[in-house]
Amino acid sequence: MLDTLKYPIIQAPMAGGISTPALAAAVSDAGGLGFLAGGYKTAEGLAEDIQKVRQLTSSRFGVNIFVPGPSDADEDAIAAYRLKLEREAECLGTVLGNPSADDDEWNRKLNLVKAERVPFVSFTFGCPSKGIIQELQANGSFVIVTVTCVEEAKMAADAGADALCLQGIEAGGHRGTFSNGTDLQEEYGLLVLLRLVKQELGIPLIAAGGIMDGRAIAAVIAAGACAAQLGTAFLLCPESGTNPVYREALASPRFTSTRITRAFTGRRARGLVNDFMEAYDKEAPAAYPQLHHMTQGLRKTAAQNGNPEYMSLWAGQGYRLAQPLPAGELIRNLTAQLLEQNRE
Ligand SMILES: Cc1cc2nc3c(=O)[nH]c(=O)nc-3n(C[C@H](O)[C@H](O)[C@H](O)COP(=O)(O)O)c2cc1C
Repeated sequence: MLDTLKYPIIQAPMAGGISTPALAAAVSDAGGLGFLAGGYKTAEGLAEDIQKVRQLTSSRFGVNIFVPGPSDADEDAIAAYRLKLEREAECLGTVLGNPSADDDEWNRKLNLVKAERVPFVSFTFGCPSKGIIQELQANGSFVIVTVTCVEEAKMAADAGADALCLQGIEAGGHRGTFSNGTDLQEEYGLLVLLRLVKQELGIPLIAAGGIMDGRAIAAVIAAGACAAQLGTAFLLCPESGTNPVYREALASPRFTSTRITRAFTGRRARGLVNDFMEAYDKEAPAAYPQLHHMTQGLRKTAAQNGNPEYMSLWAGQGYRLAQPLPAGELIRNLTAQLLEQNRE
């Protein structure tokens, strides 16, 4: 299925309203593969997005779903973190959310992508069972699992995934690690991860993390990937749902670096370093999705107030290379650079 894409370029699913149906449709129409993000949405909201993409394009697209993890977070640590954040919420004129541990409507979303026969289904934060993968495949879907190390790659290949999305440490947004534990495994840059997994497995590999132009796409293809998945590169496209305050922050000299933190959601994710991250990076427990729900209102209020210091500004290390171009034009530029690189 990946071979049949006109261009080996995948627009990363980006939860939080960023990868809109308009973005996915524009990317797929331009010859790449557009993705919808199922994460954080209700199953009904995701169903609406699927309908919208289908109204906008007859091209193929993908849907991404979060795999729920164990709800074994330390309640005392969550309560202690809550106490620290309450004052911040008060100052912003809002209240903290309920730190609930839901499964992001896992079963309903699986049923939805099956019922809708979504052409590409990708998973992050874990690996679905063999049975689930087989059911999706029997239904016509191509199944992709996000991995961050060789061990996860082997587990996903054993479970029968059609392809793996290798996420390097450079990547923006949440780490797709199967576990959210504090016992951190070694973390890999994209190129070495590609080479290590390629040495072990014959399965198609999609490369993600810090890829911002056609030359980088050529590089990962030379290193063994069959396609590149780009997230941060699409953040400034007019079709993206990126909040205006977030867009401004990406171009602002106020923000000079990215870091991986649990401060906003309780799961490790890379974003621009702002005041909230500086203050709470070391305080936040490994409690996802509890902290996500707890800080959601605070982040939303900050966005409404035009305050980037309390928003989660997810971005990969290459964010300074992002360009405010319509998605179709971005795909054309990326493919022109890729072809030029291949000619040289
Ligand atoms: C704002 C943002 C939101 C993201 N949301 C998701 C998501 O919902 N599901 C997912 O599998 N990956 C998500 N990612 C990670 C991407 O799939 C991908 O790994 C990453 O964007 C690649 O690195 P790059 O941002 O440097 O291109 C997100 C990334 C960003 C920047």
